[in-house]
This record gives sequence, C-alpha cells and structure tokens, in this order.
Amino acid sequence: MSNKENYAYARKKIFLTNSYLKYPLPEELLQELAEELKEINRYPSGGGYDELKEVLANYTGVKVDNILPANGSDEVIEMITRAYPGKVLIPIPTFSQYEASADRSKLPKLLVPCLQNKEYNLHYSSSQLKEASLVWICNPNNPTGTGISREKIMEILNKAKGIVAIDECNYEYFGESSIGLIEKYKNLIIVRSFSKNFGLAGLRLGFAISNAENIKEISAYGQCFRVNRLAEKAAGKVLKYLDYYQKIWDKIKKVRDDFTQKINQLGWFAYPSQANFVLVEARNKEESEEIWGYLKEKNIYTLPGWKDEFSGLEDRFIRFTVGEEWEMNRTIEVLSEYRQRCRRGDLNPHRHTPTTP
Ligand SMILES: Cc1ncc(COP(=O)(O)O)c(C=O)c1O
Repeated sequence: MSNKENYAYARKKIFLTNSYLKYPLPEELLQELAEELKEINRYPSGGGYDELKEVLANYTGVKVDNILPANGSDEVIEMITRAYPGKVLIPIPTFSQYEASADRSKLPKLLVPCLQNKEYNLHYSSSQLKEASLVWICNPNNPTGTGISREKIMEILNKAKGIVAIDECNYEYFGESSIGLIEKYKNLIIVRSFSKNFGLAGLRLGFAISNAENIKEISAYGQCFRVNRLAEKAAGKVLKYLDYYQKIWDKIKKVRDDFTQKINQLGWFAYPSQANFVLVEARNKEESEEIWGYLKEKNIYTLPGWKDEFSGLEDRFIRFTVGEEWEMNRTIEVLSEYRQRCRRGDLNPHRHTPTTP
C-alpha cells in the first residue's frame, strides 16, 4: 500500500455498532426492488398477506397458518408481549426489546442473571417457569452469541406454564431452529427476521411462527397494514438469491471466528459466537471505556455495555458486529497498537496495564 492509500485506509470510518448485514445486496435484487417503487401508490396486501405468508412458510417449512408477518421482529416481540400479559422472564444479558416491550405494557419483569464464569446458561428455576406468563429465550443470544442447546429448550418448554418465545433472528448464522417443535409444544412461538441475514433491516420485515391458534391470538395485536408494500414484495425476491447470501453468511462466520481468536491472543476474552457479532470482556469499566474511546479516535465505532441496546450487560463489555474482513483486520491492528502502547507506557499506566502478555 502506498502512503496515500495507507492514510485513506486508516481514516475510513468503520461501524461495528448495530448488527445489520454489512455486505452489499445483489445488484439485480436492488433493481427488482426499484421496479416495485412504481407501485407504492397502492396499499400492501393487508391483514391477509397471503402471498408473503406462503413465501415465509416455504422458506421455513411450515404451513401458511403458522406464520404471522410483521414490521420487523421488534414488532413481533411487542405483539407477543401484549398478547400474553403477566410476569415476563428475561435472561440477562440479552437484547433490550423484551424488557422495553414489557415496560410499555407495564408488566412485571423477572430479569434472571445468566452470565457466570464467562458462560451464558439459562438459569430459570422451576418456580420461575411456573409463575411466568411469558418466557424469553434469545437463540443465539444477543450479545453473547451463545447458541442454546435443544435439551435446554425442551427442558424449559416442559416446565413452563406460559408461553415460551424463542427469538431466532440470527438463525442463519447458527443453523439450529426449534421450528420442528411448534406442533408438539402448544406454548412455543418462534421469532424470525430479515434484518441480520438478508440485509433488509431498513425495510422492516419480521415474522412469528407458531401453531395456528397462537398466531390468531397474536395477530389481534397488530395493525392491518403492518408490513409495507416494498417489504412484502422483497421477501420472495430476496429468497431467490439464497446461494449469494449463503456465501456471505459463511464468510461472516469465518471472519468472526478469526476475529475471536485474535482478540483472545491479544489477552482479552471474546465469547465464542454463533451470531454475526462478538462480545469482548475487558478487565473492568475503566479498561472497556479506554478501548472503546481509543477505537473511536481511530474511526472504529462499537457498542459498549453502557448503551441501551442490551438488558443487564455490564460496562466492562463491548460488542463488535462482524463487518467485512478488512474492517475486522483494521480493528485488530488498532487493538494490537493499543496493547503495544500500554506496554510501552505511552498511555495512562493505571488504565492500560494489559491482563496478559
Ligand atoms: C436478538 C434480536 N431480536 C430482534 C431484533 C430486532 O430486529 P428487527 O426488528 O430488525 O427484525 C434484534 C436487533 O438488533 C436482535 O438483536
């Protein structure tokens, strides 16, 4: 790289904050979507959304009446919360919207700490599962990236008296789903999204999967035209490019695992992730603030524990969304430089003494 190129590379802004898909969508797909703009004077299909439901049912291998499309999975979370009022069990640290939706409906929450000794496990007790009307499981969990085992899910489904909602919005990176259990367990609802995997975060498309009775019950809490016309049409178009997306997901997983390994080599703890982000644990709040600030000075933006994206995440954590390979390499480069400067004593010695060599 020439000096000029090097300088431009170092100054490029890198956003590893929200976990949207950071790779470009296929050009032909964008053209197809642009064509649809000509029709936006018309309403979406409305309450029925029959065509969209069929597309989603085919993709997930269920029946049309097992599907409820919505305006992003955030709206699915909101509708489920409103449909089953009562005590809400939330396994922290996790995605903030389970708590936010419970708060909007003024429901009592039980925030159950699940991160101990650098492992995230669902520590729900039998009595908690009996008293809750709604139990949340984020699989894989945001922000730890932990995949929840089938055994654990079955154990919870067997003990829970209320609804068990499993947020699988990062399914495509994990590859394990509980969809196969929806007929056996009448209390199971799955939440999916087109944001993280298919790059439609800005269009807003999410959906619920459950038995037909639950779907009917939840749908009473949504508006008629909750999915916009473009998002409605986009689902079928996007799914024609599954091979393209599969390559991107494989690439992201590879870049993610490489990044995780390098973070650990640098002496911090990176949680093994099954999603498109990596959670990194610093020694304490001072260190995470320093790292976050140092990265920001170098135009690398990340999501720290003190932002309200998460419920119950402590300040010593920073979450990195997995971007393109060069972005993650640049991040590692900056973090290595930070470590070297700490060792040389260039930075405040109280805050910069590395934990391991
Ligand atoms: C675990 C989880 N669920 C749901 C969502 C909401 O996604 P969307 O509303 O874009 O489908 C997010 C977004 O960050 C998330 O991380």
